[in-house]
Amino acid sequence: MDPNNRVAVKDLSPEWRELVEAARVAREMAYAPYSRFSVGAAVRTASGTVYTGGNIENGVFGLTVCAERVAIWKAISAGDRDLRALAVLTDTGATPCGSCRQVMAEFAKELPVVIADTDGRAWRTSLAELLPHAFPRTNLSGRPELG
Ligand code: THU
Repeated sequence: MDPNNRVAVKDLSPEWRELVEAARVAREMAYAPYSRFSVGAAVRTASGTVYTGGNIENGVFGLTVCAERVAIWKAISAGDRDLRALAVLTDTGATPCGSCRQVMAEFAKELPVVIADTDGRAWRTSLAELLPHAFPRTNLSGRPELG
Protein backbone atom coordinates (compact mmCIF):
# COMPACT_ATOMS: atom_id res chain seq x y z
CA MET A 1 0.00 0.00 0.00
CA ASP A 2 1.02 3.62 -0.23
CA PRO A 3 -0.20 6.92 1.21
CA ASN A 4 -2.16 7.74 -1.95
CA ASN A 5 -4.08 4.49 -1.78
CA ARG A 6 -5.50 4.34 1.69
CA VAL A 7 -8.11 1.78 2.65
CA ALA A 8 -10.91 2.03 5.19
CA VAL A 9 -9.77 1.06 8.69
CA LYS A 10 -12.92 -1.07 8.98
CA ASP A 11 -11.59 -3.26 6.15
CA LEU A 12 -8.34 -4.07 7.98
CA SER A 13 -7.92 -7.34 9.88
CA PRO A 14 -9.35 -7.45 13.44
CA GLU A 15 -5.79 -7.28 14.85
CA TRP A 16 -5.02 -4.10 12.94
CA ARG A 17 -8.39 -2.58 13.76
CA GLU A 18 -7.71 -3.17 17.45
CA LEU A 19 -4.30 -1.52 17.19
CA VAL A 20 -5.62 1.49 15.26
CA GLU A 21 -8.44 1.90 17.77
CA ALA A 22 -5.91 1.78 20.62
CA ALA A 23 -3.89 4.51 18.86
CA ARG A 24 -7.05 6.58 18.38
CA VAL A 25 -7.87 6.41 22.10
CA ALA A 26 -4.24 7.15 23.05
CA ARG A 27 -4.29 10.23 20.81
CA GLU A 28 -7.03 11.70 22.99
CA MET A 29 -4.50 11.75 25.85
CA ALA A 30 -1.81 13.52 23.81
CA TYR A 31 -0.37 16.63 25.44
CA ALA A 32 0.27 18.92 22.49
CA PRO A 33 -0.59 22.50 23.52
CA TYR A 34 2.20 24.03 21.42
CA SER A 35 1.91 22.30 18.05
CA ARG A 36 -1.76 21.36 18.48
CA PHE A 37 -0.83 18.27 16.47
CA SER A 38 -1.97 15.25 18.45
CA VAL A 39 -0.54 11.85 17.66
CA GLY A 40 -1.56 8.43 18.97
CA ALA A 41 0.47 5.24 18.71
CA ALA A 42 -0.04 1.63 19.71
CA VAL A 43 2.48 -1.17 19.60
CA ARG A 44 1.81 -4.89 20.02
CA THR A 45 4.57 -7.12 21.35
CA ALA A 46 5.19 -10.84 20.99
CA SER A 47 3.35 -11.37 24.28
CA GLY A 48 0.20 -9.98 22.64
CA THR A 49 0.12 -6.95 24.92
CA VAL A 50 -0.69 -3.58 23.38
CA TYR A 51 1.10 -0.48 24.72
CA THR A 52 -0.11 2.95 23.76
CA GLY A 53 1.12 6.52 23.83
CA GLY A 54 0.33 10.05 22.81
CA ASN A 55 2.90 12.74 22.09
CA ILE A 56 3.98 14.71 25.16
CA GLU A 57 5.23 18.23 24.54
CA ASN A 58 7.12 20.57 26.82
CA GLY A 59 7.55 24.33 27.14
CA VAL A 60 11.21 23.56 26.49
CA PHE A 61 10.32 22.41 22.99
CA GLY A 62 13.24 20.04 22.50
CA LEU A 63 12.02 17.86 25.35
CA THR A 64 8.93 16.81 23.41
CA VAL A 65 8.55 13.06 22.99
CA CYS A 66 6.68 11.54 20.06
CA ALA A 67 3.71 9.24 20.59
CA GLU A 68 5.55 6.29 19.05
CA ARG A 69 8.38 6.55 21.53
CA VAL A 70 6.01 6.95 24.48
CA ALA A 71 4.32 3.67 23.46
CA ILE A 72 7.64 1.91 22.86
CA TRP A 73 9.14 3.14 26.16
CA LYS A 74 6.10 1.72 27.96
CA ALA A 75 6.68 -1.68 26.34
CA ILE A 76 10.41 -1.69 27.02
CA SER A 77 10.00 -0.50 30.60
CA ALA A 78 7.57 -3.38 31.16
CA GLY A 79 10.30 -5.77 29.98
CA ASP A 80 8.34 -6.47 26.78
CA ARG A 81 10.94 -5.86 24.08
CA ASP A 82 9.86 -7.86 21.07
CA LEU A 83 7.82 -5.40 19.02
CA ARG A 84 5.57 -7.05 16.41
CA ALA A 85 3.19 -4.41 15.02
CA LEU A 86 2.71 -0.67 15.33
CA ALA A 87 -0.11 1.71 14.43
CA VAL A 88 0.07 5.49 14.43
CA LEU A 89 -2.88 7.82 14.01
CA THR A 90 -2.98 11.55 13.24
CA ASP A 91 -5.29 14.06 11.58
CA THR A 92 -3.32 13.87 8.38
CA GLY A 93 -2.03 10.29 8.33
CA ALA A 94 1.55 11.40 9.01
CA THR A 95 4.38 8.88 8.96
CA PRO A 96 6.65 8.40 12.01
CA CYS A 97 9.63 10.73 12.31
CA GLY A 98 13.16 9.50 11.64
CA SER A 99 14.10 9.32 15.31
CA CYS A 100 11.15 7.06 16.08
CA ARG A 101 12.04 4.85 13.12
CA GLN A 102 15.52 4.32 14.53
CA VAL A 103 14.06 3.53 17.97
CA MET A 104 11.77 0.95 16.34
CA ALA A 105 14.81 -0.59 14.63
CA GLU A 106 16.45 -1.12 18.02
CA PHE A 107 13.65 -3.42 19.13
CA ALA A 108 12.29 -5.05 16.00
CA LYS A 109 13.84 -7.02 13.16
CA GLU A 110 10.72 -6.65 11.07
CA LEU A 111 7.87 -4.39 12.05
CA PRO A 112 4.66 -4.01 10.08
CA VAL A 113 3.28 -0.49 10.49
CA VAL A 114 -0.17 0.93 9.80
CA ILE A 115 -0.49 4.67 9.26
CA ALA A 116 -4.02 5.87 9.98
CA ASP A 117 -5.86 9.17 9.88
CA THR A 118 -8.86 10.57 11.71
CA ASP A 119 -11.04 10.10 8.62
CA GLY A 120 -10.86 6.34 9.20
CA ARG A 121 -8.42 5.69 6.36
CA ALA A 122 -5.13 3.82 6.63
CA TRP A 123 -2.31 2.27 4.69
CA ARG A 124 0.14 -0.40 5.57
CA THR A 125 3.89 -0.17 5.39
CA SER A 126 6.85 -1.56 7.30
CA LEU A 127 9.89 -0.42 9.20
CA ALA A 128 12.11 -1.77 6.40
CA GLU A 129 10.27 0.44 3.93
CA LEU A 130 10.29 3.46 6.23
CA LEU A 131 13.93 3.11 7.29
CA PRO A 132 16.10 1.17 4.87
CA HIS A 133 19.68 0.84 6.11
CA ALA A 134 18.94 1.72 9.74
CA PHE A 135 21.96 2.04 11.99
CA PRO A 136 22.43 -1.54 13.20
CA ARG A 137 23.52 -2.00 16.80
CA THR A 138 25.63 -4.90 15.57
CA ASN A 139 28.23 -2.20 14.79
CA LEU A 140 28.84 -1.77 18.49
CA SER A 141 31.12 -3.85 20.63
CA GLY A 142 29.12 -6.30 22.70
CA ARG A 143 26.65 -6.82 19.83
CA PRO A 144 23.57 -7.29 21.98
CA GLU A 145 21.02 -9.81 20.80
CA LEU A 146 17.32 -9.04 20.90
CA GLY A 147 15.68 -9.96 24.17
N1 THU B 1 5.11 13.79 16.59
C1 THU B 1 4.87 12.52 17.00
O1 THU B 1 4.30 12.29 18.08
N2 THU B 1 5.26 11.51 16.20
C2 THU B 1 5.90 11.67 15.00
O2 THU B 1 6.31 10.69 14.40
C3 THU B 1 6.09 13.00 14.45
C4 THU B 1 5.75 14.13 15.34
C5 THU B 1 4.69 14.88 17.46
C6 THU B 1 5.82 15.65 18.08
C7 THU B 1 5.18 16.99 18.34
O3 THU B 1 4.51 16.94 19.58
C8 THU B 1 4.14 17.12 17.24
O4 THU B 1 3.94 15.82 16.72
C9 THU B 1 4.56 18.06 16.10
O5 THU B 1 5.82 17.73 15.62
